[in-house]
Amino acid sequence: MPGPSPKERIYELRRLIRYHNDRYYREDAPLISDAEYDALFLELQELEEAHTDLFDPESPTRRVGAAPVEAFGTVERSVPMLSLQNAFAEEDLIEFDARVRRFLRGRGAPESSLSATGYVAEVKIDGLAVELSYEEGNYLRGTTRGDGIRGEDVTANIRTIQDVPLAIPRKRPVDAPSPPGTLFIDPPRVLDVRGEIYMEKREFLELNRGRERKGEPSFANPRNAAAGSVRQLDPRVTASRRLRLWVYGTGRFEGVSFSDHWEELGLLSGWGFPVDWKWSRRCRTIDEVLEFYREVEGRKDSLPFEIDGVVVKVNDRGLQKEIGEISRSPRWAIAAKYSPDTAETTVEDIVVGVGRTGTITPVAILSPVVVRGVTVRRATLHNQDLIDGKDIRVGDRVLVQRAGEVIPEVVESLSAGRKEPGRGKPYRIPDSCPICSSPVERVPGEAAHRCTGNGCVGKRKESLRHFVSKGAMDIDGMGYRIVSALVDEGLVTEPADLYGLDRRTLAGMERLGEKSADNLVRAIENSRSPTLSRFLYALGIPHVGEHLSEVLARHFGSLEALRKATPGELSEVHEVGPEVARSAFEYFSSAEGKRTVDHLIDRAKITIRPEPPREGRMAGKTFLFTGTLRTPRAKAQEMVRKQGGIVAAGLSRKVDFLVAGDKAGSKLAKALEAGIQVLTEQEFLGMAGTEEP
Ligand code: IVH
Repeated sequence: MPGPSPKERIYELRRLIRYHNDRYYREDAPLISDAEYDALFLELQELEEAHTDLFDPESPTRRVGAAPVEAFGTVERSVPMLSLQNAFAEEDLIEFDARVRRFLRGRGAPESSLSATGYVAEVKIDGLAVELSYEEGNYLRGTTRGDGIRGEDVTANIRTIQDVPLAIPRKRPVDAPSPPGTLFIDPPRVLDVRGEIYMEKREFLELNRGRERKGEPSFANPRNAAAGSVRQLDPRVTASRRLRLWVYGTGRFEGVSFSDHWEELGLLSGWGFPVDWKWSRRCRTIDEVLEFYREVEGRKDSLPFEIDGVVVKVNDRGLQKEIGEISRSPRWAIAAKYSPDTAETTVEDIVVGVGRTGTITPVAILSPVVVRGVTVRRATLHNQDLIDGKDIRVGDRVLVQRAGEVIPEVVESLSAGRKEPGRGKPYRIPDSCPICSSPVERVPGEAAHRCTGNGCVGKRKESLRHFVSKGAMDIDGMGYRIVSALVDEGLVTEPADLYGLDRRTLAGMERLGEKSADNLVRAIENSRSPTLSRFLYALGIPHVGEHLSEVLARHFGSLEALRKATPGELSEVHEVGPEVARSAFEYFSSAEGKRTVDHLIDRAKITIRPEPPREGRMAGKTFLFTGTLRTPRAKAQEMVRKQGGIVAAGLSRKVDFLVAGDKAGSKLAKALEAGIQVLTEQEFLGMAGTEEP
């Protein structure tokens, strides 16, 4: 069944997001986790970027929050309340700093202008964003953020909050406490103060206990409790909840000026607004910001209020203005979230995949969630024992995890052990292969199930996919879709068949144009003389990954020597254990292994090159380039190859360095996410031993 068209999906996402915005902002009763919301939002953002013809100024990606509720009067503001771009990892902060610097450089502004005033880092309290307006020092109005431009008028409710100054004192109070940054001057004529109304954790727990006693529904978290308390039609209810205020900035102001954010906080503090000096810090460099970020992470559970990250702002107002903003958020500030590497979501289905060695792996199909900045739609369930142990079923709410480079996995079922009406039956791996219907057997002594079918099409497709992949024969442009179609049409049954494909056959395939066919033929030709290690790896011998392929290739030097090796000789090789030795031996002595290799050498005329020597400054290191470089791309790649390095065609775990030029896009983000080291062009040139492009 074909999925929805991009247009249909965009409309659907806009509708869904508006609906969830309402649940969150207007009703204070979210239905999905933040991570699930983030996934919807990211998907819409990406689709809108790819289909600019479907632009809609009213799209939820162009707005913040939700439209105000009619029950409150609405107030329009001239300086919109913006939202913040999110960072999910330390690398994102480093990238934010690099972006700010790049921007300054591009504008011809000296970078020293940034280091002179640096950044201000503050905790990001999880509450309800509000704006308090003052005229001649008197509290006039309080509004919620609403959609950023139009907020709800909650003047009376906010007036009941103890922390909110109703009149700003004219003179410095005689015994006013004066934390370090506090400044005292007369209040300006017009002043909008922005901050967060929140509820302390203790207060929240107490409130919920009381509500439960009275049989009232409890609030999901302090944020919802604070929001629900402010957005009350009866101010007496607001007054009865102990709400707090904490301020971090201004909107309009007249009759006062300040040159940086730190000074702004000092003034606010002097006027009697609560500023959190303990958790606001001036940082000269991004390293100091990172230090703050880590410090807060270590302490956040013991803070009296809930936070969901830290906010980092360029301190200097002049620089802020220059750097500017994009659609809904400033480019001079960023919210660094403490992204847990887990998120909650729902199992929509459980399917099984057949690997190249026939292993049957159960996979959970999930409602998409964003975990560490990446949208997760599937997660491995590993094997039957794990499913049984964790009692994971279709319909369950589960915790998904993405840790390091590992594929996402389901950590636990939140529904396990409960008698929920929607719970499916316990899951069992099917008895027969979903692809070839051969019996599925459990491997003795292992937790894995395996398809016993010799000619299983599923296995065949997976081994071919592996054979053509980047680290193996690297047939550029030969994706799974094409491999799968070639197998389905009977054009390819084993690797050697790939080398008999011609342009006509390929161009005749469904959805493959002439140009792509030409490119594919060229890519197939280009792959004809792999190094021994790549060839070995491409064969997909169980337990022989990329690294061991190279170890074996270097030790034996030729395919002939390797094919003749006994298990004893194999296991003598440094790093090769008995399991690997047995596996390699079995492969080369099996009828199928022999045939596959013979056909590749004799029929497909694959010629194997010796391993290149491991020397040069970039020896053994893999580089990937992205963005615009001053050095021509081909020249940069040549530098790598000349110095014994490898140029990758795409992002994978094998990439050691990503060299990022200007306008580096998603590759950069993904590399940072995966912890791959990122180099500027200058750093790369330095490594190559030249300073000149
Ligand atoms: S600055 C232009 N600073 O986070 C800068 N916002 O996504 C806009 N928030 O709901 C906001 N703590 O109310 C800023 N220290 C802080 C903050 C903070 C919490 C909230 C803000 C808004 C959201 C922005």
